[in-house]
Amino acid sequence: MSEIFQPLNLRSITLKNRIALAPMLMYTGQDDGKVNDLHLAHYSTRALGGVGLITTEVVAVLPEGRISHTDLGLWQDEHISGLKRLADIIRTCGASSCIQLAHAGRKSGVEGSIFAPSPIAHSEKHRTPRELSSAQIQEIVEAYRSAAQRALATGFDCLEIHAAHGYLIHEFLSPISNHRNDQYGGSAANRSRLLVDIVRGVREVWPDEKPLMVRLSAEDKAGDGGNTVDFTVPLGRTLKELGTDLLSVSAGGLTPTFDGVIVPGYQVGYASGIRRNVGLPVGCNGSITSSELVESILFSQSADLVYMGRELLRNPFWLLDVARAAGIEPPLVIPTYARATGPYERGH
Ligand SMILES: Cc1cc2nc3c(=O)[nH]c(=O)nc-3n(C[C@H](O)[C@H](O)[C@H](O)COP(=O)(O)O)c2cc1C
Repeated sequence: MSEIFQPLNLRSITLKNRIALAPMLMYTGQDDGKVNDLHLAHYSTRALGGVGLITTEVVAVLPEGRISHTDLGLWQDEHISGLKRLADIIRTCGASSCIQLAHAGRKSGVEGSIFAPSPIAHSEKHRTPRELSSAQIQEIVEAYRSAAQRALATGFDCLEIHAAHGYLIHEFLSPISNHRNDQYGGSAANRSRLLVDIVRGVREVWPDEKPLMVRLSAEDKAGDGGNTVDFTVPLGRTLKELGTDLLSVSAGGLTPTFDGVIVPGYQVGYASGIRRNVGLPVGCNGSITSSELVESILFSQSADLVYMGRELLRNPFWLLDVARAAGIEPPLVIPTYARATGPYERGH
């Protein structure tokens, strides 16, 4: 009995198994934010490899919110057709799809001004960002809402808001990067306001039948004074009330150092704690590469979905290998793959 190949229902979407491609920026775009053939090839290969949910890399809601000039974007209608093609090909290749909307904040490497809650650089290698005004914050909330409307036109099944890893939303959440003294800084409620406003705005335009995910860093892991699960658990409860369907639980990224040990599954404990205390399905990630570890995470109900990143870069067909080893016949989108039975049979 494998837990990996059990379906997961989220609103009207059924993921065919519990493996998701973790969002990973591939740096293969041009300066225009548009999908190109490399994106189509990269994501469709992982979908043909049997992964249940393909999450895109960061898709910027504003041009200054890109991590690099090679990022994808959804800040204008011209971006819709390429992303629609991507959503279509993921579906054709048998997977469900999720688009990750993001704003890089002070971690943006694009030319021009960069923005953050407070004028504090991410590291000595980064530029000092400009402090966002209240009016600019409203424009960002609106940019997420407009991008979500466009995402609906692309046909993606799920939408994820990237609020982790030290990008703009996380910068607002953490007292280390947010030194504001207006309604967006200070108390936990104030620091959460940007995310809450974004989720509220997105949920208004993202239809009831479609799942909404939020990716959070459970803890800042950036030394003293950062957020811990004492902050993240109540935030998760608020996100649940606002119509979030799954929390993708990660950690760190606020500063260049990670204040903790890194071993296989090192972030799973955060996911299971948030799952238990918030009462929402969660995804976990972090150096998870073996089917045995995935089975044990799912069997112990530590998480509902396992996001895999670099292992699926190394081997897009990892899940097919796992199925074969377990004696499970996964439904193959290209049935001819089943003819690749072994080295001792004659192929033709
Ligand atoms: C090349 C690369 C790009 C990444 N880009 C993103 C991204 O666009 N959005 C995001 O939320 N996380 C991003 N991540 C983090 C991954 O989603 C994941 O959390 C991390 O790689 C740990 O999982 P793994 O050990 O299975 O690779 C990236 C990671 C890598 C290696």
